[in-house]
Amino acid sequence: MSMSIEDTGKVRDGFPRPFPNTPSNVLEQLRMNGKVVVVTGGADGIGFAVAEAMAEAGGDVALLYNSNDKAIVRAQGLALAHNIKAAAFKADVSDPNQVQDVIQKVVVEFGKIDVFVANAGMAISKPILEQTLDEYKKQMSVNVDGVVYCAKYVGQVFKDQGFGNLIITSSMSAQIVNVPVDQPVYNATKAYVTHFGKSLAREWREFARVNIVSPGFFDTKMGAGPLALNEAYRMSVLGRQGHVKEIKGLYLYLASDASSYQTGSDVLIDGGYVLP
Ligand SMILES: NC(=O)c1ccc[n+]([C@@H]2O[C@H](COP(=O)([O-])OP(=O)(O)OC[C@H]3O[C@@H](n4cnc5c(N)ncnc54)[C@H](OP(=O)(O)O)[C@@H]3O)[C@@H](O)[C@H]2O)c1
Repeated sequence: MSMSIEDTGKVRDGFPRPFPNTPSNVLEQLRMNGKVVVVTGGADGIGFAVAEAMAEAGGDVALLYNSNDKAIVRAQGLALAHNIKAAAFKADVSDPNQVQDVIQKVVVEFGKIDVFVANAGMAISKPILEQTLDEYKKQMSVNVDGVVYCAKYVGQVFKDQGFGNLIITSSMSAQIVNVPVDQPVYNATKAYVTHFGKSLAREWREFARVNIVSPGFFDTKMGAGPLALNEAYRMSVLGRQGHVKEIKGLYLYLASDASSYQTGSDVLIDGGYVLP
């Protein structure tokens, strides 16, 4: 039964909560100086663009990679170019022990984690009738298990610190049945992490914010493949894929104090793909 007006009139202890002690100048709000940001899938594509955005804004960054060890020189490059601390760490997000260990290593090396970007993902885009069960399990292990493991272990860090900020890279494919290539498993893995992130935003309300980014097609290794490219250009109102430089501002906003009142949101950035 819903509450009566009299029930809702009772004052709850500690409410309203105080406004945050953040700058009022919006450019100051966007500064990341003194903050530590961890990015999975940080060697390339969207993840590296996010790491670069954080470094450009003055943040220290930990680039997590699985197979692409360019992350090591790219971290060194960010540190030199932006006078920040940066390092690369190897971990397979589908292995809970590696995730737990790498998060501990980052805390030892950097002292804390302010923002964790759970961005690693993969796709084997096939209809379910053509997909092997191993391919299904592989996508689940990276896109779903990987995000759950990262959230579980970094969430404990956030709780112990008393602060934190998780950003999950989902996809517009969480909201639409992406065409023309049937890829029900990939779509569903992304729907899982979108709802998981929203649910965490409530669970972690006392100590951390959680938001989701849902990109449309971006020109990376996971962007539109040959079978989907023409349809990607047709469906996107802007007539093209996104360039990764065009997603940096959104992650910076969500990572920074500029978004201090934002939690549980799912932000679509798709060039208008899902409009028609
Ligand atoms: N590009 C798009 O059109 C698009 C659209 C919607 C959503 N997304 C999402 O955006 C995210 C980033 O993709 P991207 O477009 O930037 O493509 P990408 O450059 O291929 O990035 C994918 C990243 O995931 C990492 N990864 C894969 N399996 C992993 C594992 N088992 N453990 C740890 N890391 C793993 C890869 O790391 P290594 O290379 O080091 O192995 C790689 O850096 C993904 O979650 C993807 O689903 C992309």
